[in-house]
Amino acid sequence: RIQSRMEQAKTMKEEDKLYRHDGVLYPVIMCPPENLAALENLEARPDDVMLVAYPKCGFNWMVAVLRKIITAGSGREQDAKMPPLIEFFGPEMVQLMSQAPSPRFLGTHMHPDNIPATFTDKKTKMLVIFRNPKDTAVSFYHFSVKNPVLPTPESWDKFYAEYMSGDVPWGSYFDHALAWEKRLDDPNVMVITYEELKEDLFKGVQQISRFFSFDLSEEQAQDIAQDSTFSAMKESSKDSHGPMSSIFFRKGEVGDWKNHFSEAQSKQMDAEFEKQLAGTRLGAKIKY
Ligand code: A3P
Repeated sequence: RIQSRMEQAKTMKEEDKLYRHDGVLYPVIMCPPENLAALENLEARPDDVMLVAYPKCGFNWMVAVLRKIITAGSGREQDAKMPPLIEFFGPEMVQLMSQAPSPRFLGTHMHPDNIPATFTDKKTKMLVIFRNPKDTAVSFYHFSVKNPVLPTPESWDKFYAEYMSGDVPWGSYFDHALAWEKRLDDPNVMVITYEELKEDLFKGVQQISRFFSFDLSEEQAQDIAQDSTFSAMKESSKDSHGPMSSIFFRKGEVGDWKNHFSEAQSKQMDAEFEKQLAGTRLGAKIKY
């Protein structure tokens, strides 16, 4: 289904690929306005497993990890066909989800203020992944170059400028980070970073499974971590993702920004980070 949408995107004009909703850009093909409207009918459950990430912070990595955690912890095999982004669902899927058995696995790239209020009302637990803003920008650039659903950037410099002004799909990285900073004390919110996960995935798997109250043995957590390294996932994605494998699994490293940022861009990003996130707890967690 995703592949056919990508084919459809190839016939679109660049300028028609994104539209604005409440000031934020969204890709027309994957989340048309009717999908966002349909979210009003989505009803959250306290035992939903909700994954949230600004684009390119490691969402698909954690999708794979969480599917394994849920399967091991609940005994219920997870459907691996659909990326669980609620803004991709549309009215039919929203309807189907209302009958899906618990625990449901859902996710979103949306700004926390635009995530349907039902998730907060029902006290759904949300795992939020962040990644340093420089590597996120580089990953976003390459993804935009390869993914026909998004406009093809004219150059790295042009994309970088759009990223800094928040004129990229799902909006400004800094807006997302600042909004999550305000929710850090919510016991139903857990923030983890890409860098922490790269450093110790076993520990991350244990923390995440505990947060969602899945009782995993040390051996199960160890197995999940081993199966979810970049190289293991890239290899298995050749079967699961086919030709799209290279779009989602590129380098999987910390620090690739050094191969892309000019000195001036790096300084500008540092200054922006300092201005927006210095002294915040989330800012202290996001290191690079
Ligand atoms: P790079 O483009 O830097 O390689 P998202 O899933 O949110 O779109 O994020 C994509 C980024 O996560 C890509 O980063 C991708 O390579 C990386 N990634 C995917 N699987 C990973 C894994 N198992 N370990 C580390 N990074 C992974």
